[in-house]
Amino acid sequence: MVYSVILVTKLYQCRFSFAKIINMENFTNKIVVVTGGTSGIGYATAKEFSDRGAKVIITGRRKEVLDTAARELGVDAYLADQSKVADTGQLVATIKEKYGQVDVLFINAGVAGVSTIADATEEGYDRIMDINVRGAFFTLSRFIPILSDGASVVFLSSNTASMIRAGSAVYASGKMALNGIMKTAAVELAPRRIRVNAVSPGPTDTGILSKMGLDAASIPAITEHLVNVIPLKTMGHAADVASMVVYLSSDAAKFTTGAELVMDGGMSLG
Ligand SMILES: NC(=O)c1ccc[n+]([C@@H]2O[C@H](COP(=O)([O-])OP(=O)(O)OC[C@H]3O[C@@H](n4cnc5c(N)ncnc54)[C@H](OP(=O)(O)O)[C@@H]3O)[C@@H](O)[C@H]2O)c1
Repeated sequence: MVYSVILVTKLYQCRFSFAKIINMENFTNKIVVVTGGTSGIGYATAKEFSDRGAKVIITGRRKEVLDTAARELGVDAYLADQSKVADTGQLVATIKEKYGQVDVLFINAGVAGVSTIADATEEGYDRIMDINVRGAFFTLSRFIPILSDGASVVFLSSNTASMIRAGSAVYASGKMALNGIMKTAAVELAPRRIRVNAVSPGPTDTGILSKMGLDAASIPAITEHLVNVIPLKTMGHAADVASMVVYLSSDAAKFTTGAELVMDGGMSLG
């Protein structure tokens, strides 16, 4: 009997130290907003925060897809096109009225595209910049008044911001701009102890490739090529990125602000 009690006590203690090691921080009573939470990295991150007890709010621009994701995840959802500042303003007003303030803001909504500078169109340029840069900038700008003191903001950047590749001028320069916005925001918001960081994944197995207008038949070959140029010889997974966002928003990262965390299996090392 005594041995059983000791064993159970040890196991219980183990559970807590193990939880600490794998960063099982609890986010109960925290309000977490994930923009573009209907698929891929946003979806996985919403799930991770929700599993850790947070009240999670996702956004999306397609009602049916948004409702399905919200039902599957058991989270709240609001329709907002993050490239439209008016939508973001309405979203902030609704969240302020319903939840008061926001503890974690994950600015994730984004699109990708490939084009050489010679072949670039105004439409293609604006599509990427309006969502990935202008939209992300004004999402942060409009949310600032309702961020709690000590809140965490995480931008979804990309390892392309650290690489030079033909065809990536618009997408990569957009993510470079995002990193500049992130660092400036880290300085501006530090007096309120709000930390602002960025996660920069390499190729991650989400639906983003198929949304780029690529021929579906060419995707396996592109994926194979990407795996070949990644030193760790694997694509990233949305859940890996989610863990990093949770880490940056946890107390374990309380001295980290203005940082870009590249997670790309070594791809940008050259
Ligand atoms: N996957 C990668 O290899 C990779 C690598 C580095 C960085 N990233 C970045 O990771 C982020 C997430 O991408 P992902 O790979 O998870 O792709 P994804 O599965 O396509 O997810 C993107 C999410 O953003 C939403 N979204 C796009 N434009 C929006 C807008 N104007 N308003 C509201 N929501 C919008 C999408 O909704 P819709 O379905 O309606 O478009 C979707 O929910 C992006 O910022 C991307 O640049 C991805």
